Amino acid sequence: MVFTYIRNMEELLQQIEAIKAEIAATVANTPDAVEQYRIKYLGTKGLVKQIMGEMKNVPNEQKKEFGQILNAFKIVAEEKMIQLQEALGESDEQGGAKFDFTLPGDPVAVGTRHPLNLVRNQMVSIFKRLGFAVAEGPEVEDDWHNFGAMNLPEDHPARDMQDTFYVQAASENNAAWLLRTHTSSVQARVMETQKPPIRVICPGRVYRNETISARAHCFFHQVEGLYIDENVSFADLKQTLYFFVQEMFGKDVKVRFRPSYFPFTEPSAEMDISCQICAGNGCNICKHTGWVEILGSGMVHPKVLENFGIDPEKYTGFAFGMGVERIAQLKYQVNDLRLYSQNDLRFLEQFKSV
Ligand code: PHE
Repeated sequence: MVFTYIRNMEELLQQIEAIKAEIAATVANTPDAVEQYRIKYLGTKGLVKQIMGEMKNVPNEQKKEFGQILNAFKIVAEEKMIQLQEALGESDEQGGAKFDFTLPGDPVAVGTRHPLNLVRNQMVSIFKRLGFAVAEGPEVEDDWHNFGAMNLPEDHPARDMQDTFYVQAASENNAAWLLRTHTSSVQARVMETQKPPIRVICPGRVYRNETISARAHCFFHQVEGLYIDENVSFADLKQTLYFFVQEMFGKDVKVRFRPSYFPFTEPSAEMDISCQICAGNGCNICKHTGWVEILGSGMVHPKVLENFGIDPEKYTGFAFGMGVERIAQLKYQVNDLRLYSQNDLRFLEQFKSV
């Protein structure tokens, strides 16, 4: 008899411990789940009642001890119920936990600006200080805005299929559509809609059908500029660009202009600056000349002005265009154009502190 009692009591104790563990592990974050819990443990046919019912089988001399154990068990079940109800009260209707706004935030990994954006922003800010406004336009352009309006004759080499990505070839009824080869196309759009005085810069991505290498890519970025007003002279062009390079590279930079040719400017000039890599002593970047070309420029061709109904007798203007990659190369000594578009974090993260 005694043996049986003890075994039964031990089983009962084990059962209570098991139920207590189950209670502790119960998760109930919807009103339904809490009600399920109540029915299972505290309901009229619930486990607590059942276990309490075992009291009658406990021998008298053990009743006091067991009474305490059973009471403690009941309290555990009831306290869990209160806990679940409280938690529910603090959560929203869907049962999700409310957001605690006092918790410290998770750190957010901040990325870095792309070097080309950094340089573009610097370039834009310099020209803004001179009163230039920013103009943007589409990357897919029609033939007129990219070439025709810019006085590029039909047989000009820049129109060659080798250089330009055509989206749609010209047909009898339709002009060609292409990926713009320069942001002069944006200047065309500005002249189309605005009257002089015009003073804009056109930053943006351009496309050319080049074989990709360290020195050439099928897309790159430009900042072009256009200034049209009465009495704008070549001296204004030179002074504007000189100011730009001094701001960009420092007061010690030297410049030189070389005569050049662009269909949309006359006269035209390319501008070189003293090599920023070797300080003019000669290196690979400047091909040991001490000078690097950074931009094309010139006085806006009268034909271009006429194309937009601007009287070339009354107005003159200058225009210039340069590659952001080239400026970035000189500023940060990036010697392979492909690095800009490979998304290699080891490269990009170097510009964190710039
Ligand atoms: N559009 C020329 C280019 O892409 C640059 C340029 C702009 C030259 C304006 C002269 C004047 O190469």
